Amino acid sequence: MSIFIDRSGNRFLLTAGEMSYAFEVQENSRLIHLYWGAKLDRSDDLPEAADQQWHRHYSDRQQGASLQEYPAFYGEYYHECAIKAEYADGVRGSLFRFAGSRVQKKFDHELLEITLEEESHPLTVKLFYRVWPELELIDRWSEITNHAETPVALENFASAAWQLPAAPNLWRLTHLSGHWGKEATIERIPVSTGKFTMESRTGLSGPFAVPYFALDEGNADELSGEVFFGALHWSGNWKITVERDPYDHTAVTGGIHDFDNRLILKPQESFTTPVFSGGWSPAGFSGASRVLHRYQMRHVLPPVIAARPMPVIFNSWGCINVHVNEENILRAAKLANRIGAELFVIDDGWQHALGDWFPDPVKFPNGLKPVIELVRSLGMEFGLWVEIESYELASDLYKAHPEWAMRYPGREPFTRYRADVDRTSVMLNFARRDVAEHIYQQLHKLVAETGIKYLKLDMNCFVSSPGWGDLPPEQQGRIWIDYVHNLHWIFERLSADFPELLMENCSSGASRADLAMTRFFGRMNRSDNQDALDMLKLHEGFTMANPPRMAGGACHISDSMYHVNHRRTPLQFQAFCGMLGSLACGKDLTHCTEAELTEIRRYTDLYKKLRHITNFGDLYRLASHREHPWAIYEYVAQDRSEAVVFLLGGSMQFADAIPPVKLAGLKPDALYEITCYGEKAPEDDSVRQFRYPPITGRGAANVGLQAELYGDFDCRIFHLKEVNA
Ligand code: DGJ
Repeated sequence: MSIFIDRSGNRFLLTAGEMSYAFEVQENSRLIHLYWGAKLDRSDDLPEAADQQWHRHYSDRQQGASLQEYPAFYGEYYHECAIKAEYADGVRGSLFRFAGSRVQKKFDHELLEITLEEESHPLTVKLFYRVWPELELIDRWSEITNHAETPVALENFASAAWQLPAAPNLWRLTHLSGHWGKEATIERIPVSTGKFTMESRTGLSGPFAVPYFALDEGNADELSGEVFFGALHWSGNWKITVERDPYDHTAVTGGIHDFDNRLILKPQESFTTPVFSGGWSPAGFSGASRVLHRYQMRHVLPPVIAARPMPVIFNSWGCINVHVNEENILRAAKLANRIGAELFVIDDGWQHALGDWFPDPVKFPNGLKPVIELVRSLGMEFGLWVEIESYELASDLYKAHPEWAMRYPGREPFTRYRADVDRTSVMLNFARRDVAEHIYQQLHKLVAETGIKYLKLDMNCFVSSPGWGDLPPEQQGRIWIDYVHNLHWIFERLSADFPELLMENCSSGASRADLAMTRFFGRMNRSDNQDALDMLKLHEGFTMANPPRMAGGACHISDSMYHVNHRRTPLQFQAFCGMLGSLACGKDLTHCTEAELTEIRRYTDLYKKLRHITNFGDLYRLASHREHPWAIYEYVAQDRSEAVVFLLGGSMQFADAIPPVKLAGLKPDALYEITCYGEKAPEDDSVRQFRYPPITGRGAANVGLQAELYGDFDCRIFHLKEVNA
């Protein structure tokens, strides 16, 4: 039983895997948080709400307010509010009282619904808790309903507030910041008194921050220590605030951003906030990530996509850019087949224009038919790129519907010129349902007619001049929120229409890295930065929140970043780094020698051989390139009979050796045979020769694997396989 209700229906103990979470209705009917942490078997072990006083002179009234399950602005409450409402009578405070609970047993989880009623206005808040019995994670969200005959304005409307336990040490916050080309950069800061806000105001959920947090007491590492974490499922503007009050009490409040977003609830109207998942792990940051990875694999990703391995992709962007045409694409497809690609993708440039999602008649005079036929005859699947949220001034769609542009009344839309592709576009107002419907119809037709098995959704700008144009006020809505709902609505329909369709959430490289997108998109562009060395850090940040197999992009095997950083990396290093996620090649194969084509084929074959582990296994980040000249990533099969270890070097210093690589997650008593990939035949006796005899899981954990890397961009892959498994 995941949800246990005690004390005449007033005390709630939720157990998700090895984690428990509890709250209670006080005598004054207010809902007070009690506990979050390791599993408890008895509700009697929970603290009494009245004892949760962390300062002896703390007034009762303030204490009650601080530990609210869903803090509301009222009386002496001065901290971050989950809800702040302004009623028609001018009252701006809300006192919510518990009004009942309901438990629903679903086939794979239990759902608790708590109803709160405001004491003097007909406003109700329902708090939802979806408890996954096998995972240390709870999904929370709320539904706010105005039952009055007059409107209510909501200034704050968070999904949830997560109250942290009292900690003897300062909490330490791990968050992910970044920008284009340097996404999901791990940052760690102590949570001192006051507030720290992570947010997005771009209209997308990124790229300057990821709607994710992790908190530990400053003593967790990748493999051990208690970590509390959360991720918000929202693809537009969001805000997560970590607040420590002067009495050492810390809470994390998050949801849709209140910036530029006052929500008016009409009479009888309800608003449902996005899901905010929260979890706990005693096994450090990798442990926390594994909970999030399993959760997404089992409960978030489209099931058909999650069950399939990720194909080897060839994408035209890294070598042909927008200059695609029938001739160069046919040539590329033949070579892609030789290097073992399973999915051939035409990226940007095939289309008539942004907004017109049919082939450019000059570049593809015969349409896409000859390309699709060749690709299929070679045994590959076919995929296409789209960027649907903008349209070009030169498009047929703009000429037909200039009123669909996002703009303020009486003003021209904000235009954007993208020099690298020589294109001027404006944003489509996706908050309009008619616009969303039109784009959905175009995409549906495109997928149905071409039979593509992969669709890459790009988004290369931020929301600009977010206005309804000259639309009459009665036809306007909540622009920031409707925009996101309509975007989800399109892809929810498309993935229901085509459940086999693998979609990539590209967004210029992880600019919409949120779990709401992961409901429809099985792959994500981890970064436009496909430099193999930078990938060592990018993958670490990416996998904090996202399953490693989702780590996509167009061209891991390529030299497409040379024009930016003038770094050349060997093919093997590019391929091994690419195999950390969903491998793609974007190299100009027409310039490859026969030997290079054969070499790339060897790597794609190796990826196919190992992907049942890398795509479906548990990830342990054993060493960080932020701290060492190398990075070590270990993937362990769910049944622990196999593991793949990537040892990836940047620049080794002089004669420094690598300490033995101690592995995690293996069966202690099982014996594993080891195959090493990537070692070159020694040129002289300065190269140490290692043997890799079979080792037990216990030996691998305590003695470790001894290996060596030399110079720059040296790398190894170890495949461990249980003997007689
Ligand atoms: C940005 C993407 O991240 C790239 O992979 C590529 O699709 C370009 N846009 C195309 O314009």
